[in-house]
Order: sequence, then structure tokens, then C-alpha cells
Amino acid sequence: MYEKKQLGVLEDALFFESLNSMVEESCRYSPHPISAMANISALIHDQMTDLNWVGFYIFHDDRFIVGPFQGKPARTEIKIGQGVCGHAAELKKVVVVDDVDAFEGHIACDAESKSELVAPIISHTSRLHALIDLDSPSYKRFGPECQKGFEQIASTMSRNLDWNNLSL
Ligand code: SME
Repeated sequence: MYEKKQLGVLEDALFFESLNSMVEESCRYSPHPISAMANISALIHDQMTDLNWVGFYIFHDDRFIVGPFQGKPARTEIKIGQGVCGHAAELKKVVVVDDVDAFEGHIACDAESKSELVAPIISHTSRLHALIDLDSPSYKRFGPECQKGFEQIASTMSRNLDWNNLSL
């Protein structure tokens, strides 16, 4: 049974090291990547404050489809290049937006969202599998530690899940 452990008050390197270990454990005990994404979205939502949406977009055919998440109903399909998600997919890098209204093409799913972080989950051969998307109701919510933390979490998920077998 999952019991909330307070990983830390400050979202510093130690906090993300612990969160990353819990993500790794979730991957290890999940029978399918979808199950892992479901529990990892719940885990991040439970451990981090000041978020109004956290979840996954899964690469399928030529676009991303919404996967497990916590938050309000969201856009179901996003193409490469569209919005913050599509931009991160194009760059294959973590993208942090301090003020979503200042980002041309931002896809607004929840009017409360003010800042956003998107981390692509990519294989060692540079194949895109999915995106981790976090929205906050505060401006400039995601600092350099968050960016590094989610680079590590995306890498953990890339290495520890079987992305070649997404059919149920
Ligand atoms: N805001 C995102 C779309 C997804 S929602 O935030 C859940 C974007 O601009 O890509």
C-alpha cells in the first residue's frame, strides 16, 4: 500500500532524488506502462504542491494522445509542434514556460494554468515515447531543480518501462 512519506518541504536535489526512486519503484511494480503512468501521475500530484494538472501524453501514430493524469479534462490529441507539449516534442528537451499567456500557441486546458513544464520521455535511440506535463496555477512555478528533476524522471521512465508493448 502506498503511504505518503513527506519527501521534503524544499523541492531540492534531495527531493527529486527521492521522487525519482519512487518513480523507479512504480515502474518496477507495474505490469504495463499505462499502469505506471497512472500511479506516477498520482504520486507526483501527491508529493508536489501548487499543481493543477499533472499527467502524460503518449506518442501514437503521428501525434500525442492524452494518457493517465490528475486534473481537469484535457485536450485529447496534440500534434508535434503544437502548444508547449508539441514544442518540447520537437526539441526533444524539457521546456519550462514561466507564463503560459506569453507563449504563442499555448493550448489552454484549464484557465487556472499560469506556468508549465513538459519533459519528453525519449529512448536512447532518440525515439519519442511520451511527454510528462505539469501545470501550475502560479507563475514561474518550475525552477532549475524541477527541470533537472524531471529530466531524470523522464529518463528513469524511458529505461524502466517496455514502451514497445503499449497494446492492452
Ligand atoms: N498546455 C498544454 C496542453 C496540455 S494541457 O496543459 C493538459 C500545451 O500547451 O501543450
